[in-house]
Amino acid sequence: MAKMWAGRTDGKVNSLADSFNSSIGFDKKLYKQDIQGSMAHAAMLSKQGIIAFDEADTIISALTQILEDIESGALEIDPKSEDIHMFVEQVLTERIGATGKKLHTARSRNDQVALDMRLYLRDFADKVTDDLKTLVTELKDKAKANIDVIMPGYTHLQHAQPVLFSHHMLAYAMMFIRDIQRIADCRKRINVSPIGSCALAGTTYDTDRSFEAEKLGFDGICLNSLDGVSDRDFCVEMLSALSLVMMHLSRLSEELILWSSQEFSFVEMSDSYSTGSSIMPQKKNPDMAELCRGKTGRVYGDLMGLLTTLKGLPLAYNKDMQEDKEGVFDACDTVTICLEVMAPMIRTMKVNADAMAKAACKGFMNATDLADYLVVKGLPFRDAYKISGSVVAYCIQNGKILETLSLEEYKDFCTAIEKDVYDAIDLKNCVSRRNSEGGTSIGSVKKQIKYIEETL
Ligand code: ARG
Repeated sequence: MAKMWAGRTDGKVNSLADSFNSSIGFDKKLYKQDIQGSMAHAAMLSKQGIIAFDEADTIISALTQILEDIESGALEIDPKSEDIHMFVEQVLTERIGATGKKLHTARSRNDQVALDMRLYLRDFADKVTDDLKTLVTELKDKAKANIDVIMPGYTHLQHAQPVLFSHHMLAYAMMFIRDIQRIADCRKRINVSPIGSCALAGTTYDTDRSFEAEKLGFDGICLNSLDGVSDRDFCVEMLSALSLVMMHLSRLSEELILWSSQEFSFVEMSDSYSTGSSIMPQKKNPDMAELCRGKTGRVYGDLMGLLTTLKGLPLAYNKDMQEDKEGVFDACDTVTICLEVMAPMIRTMKVNADAMAKAACKGFMNATDLADYLVVKGLPFRDAYKISGSVVAYCIQNGKILETLSLEEYKDFCTAIEKDVYDAIDLKNCVSRRNSEGGTSIGSVKKQIKYIEETL
C-alpha cells in the first residue's frame, strides 16, 4: 500500500526498509496520548476557524470511538502501519472520510510525537510517584513496628556503632522521598507543550497554541519551535531520575540479600516473595531483590543509550529520535515492576530482632562510647581513644567483650573508670544517647517518622 506521505516519492518502500523504519511495534503504547492530543488539536482548529465546528465534532466523536474500540479490543492496532500517529489518522479517515484528512492541518508528526511522549511521561510521573509513596510508607511502617530493635551499624561492612533497625529503614525512606521530589521537579519541565511547533518552523495558520496546551493540562508552551520538536531533555531527565530510583532499590536489595543469608539472618522474606532451587530442596532464595539489583543495569543502559543517541543530532527533528521510545518505555516498565514488588516484599518481611541483637554484641561497637565516657571523666579525647583501643585489644586477647570485663580489669587501664562505665557501654544506652538531630536515638527516629508522614 502506498504511504500516506507518498508525495515526492511514490511511497513504495522496500519491505525490509519499511519494517526498519516502522515504530508501531513499540509506539502503539502511545495510542491514548495520541488520541488525547488529536482531540485537543481538532478543538483548537475549530475554535480558530481553521476547520468547521461540526467537522471538529465529527473528528472528536470518531476519536472517542477509536479509543474505546482499541481499549475494548474491537480495534486491533495494525502492525503494518508505520507508527501510531499514522494508524490513528488512517482509521479516522476510513471511518469519517474526507473530514478525517483535515485533522493534520497545522501539525506535524514531529510535534505530535514530542507531545505524545510528554503526555506519556506526565502520566508516568504521577504513577511512579504513587508507587514511591507506597514504598516509603511500607519502609516507614516497618520502622514504626520495630522502632527499638538494635542492629549493628556498619562502615566498610565492619561493625561500627549500634543503630536502630528503624533508623536504617528510614535512611532508605529518605532516599525515596528525594526521588519523589526529583520526579516532581522533572515533571515541571515535562509539562510544557510542544504542539504547534509543527514540522520545525511553526505554521502559517492562525493557531492558538496556548489554548491547545491548556486543554491538555500543560503549564505553558515551548517558546522555540525548533527546540519544541527536537527537545528530549525531559526524557533524559526522567531516565536519570529513574536511574537513581534503581540505584536506591539496588542498594536496599543488596542489604536484603545479605541479611537473608545464614550468616546474618536479620530478616526473612515471606514465601510469596522467595523462590526455591530445582535441585537443592533446602533453598530459599531472595530472587526478587536480586532482580531489582540486576535490573538497575538495564535502566542505566536506557539512560546512556538515549544520551548517546541525542549527542551530535543537528536541529531539528531527526529519525534517530524515534530511538527514544524503547529505552524510555523499558525504564518506566522496569521501575514500575520493581517498585510494585519491593513494597509488599518489605511489608511481609520478617524482622529477626534476636539475630540483630546477637550480632550487635560482637565487634566492640561500644568502644567509642567507652572513649566518650573517659572524656566525661576528664580525659582528652585522643587519650581516651587510646585507652579504649587498648581495652579492646585486651578483650580480643582474652576472649572477652567490654560488658564482661571486671571493674578491676578496667581500673588497670584507667583509675578514673567507675561502676557507671557499664551504663555507658550498654548498647541500648549507646543508641538512646545518640540524640543529636538525625541521630539514631528513638526520639530522632520518631521525628523522622513524623516528617515522612507529613511529607506524604
Ligand atoms: N515515528 C516517529 C518517531 O517516533 C514519528 C515522527 C516521524 N516524523 C518524521 N518526520 N518522519 O519519531
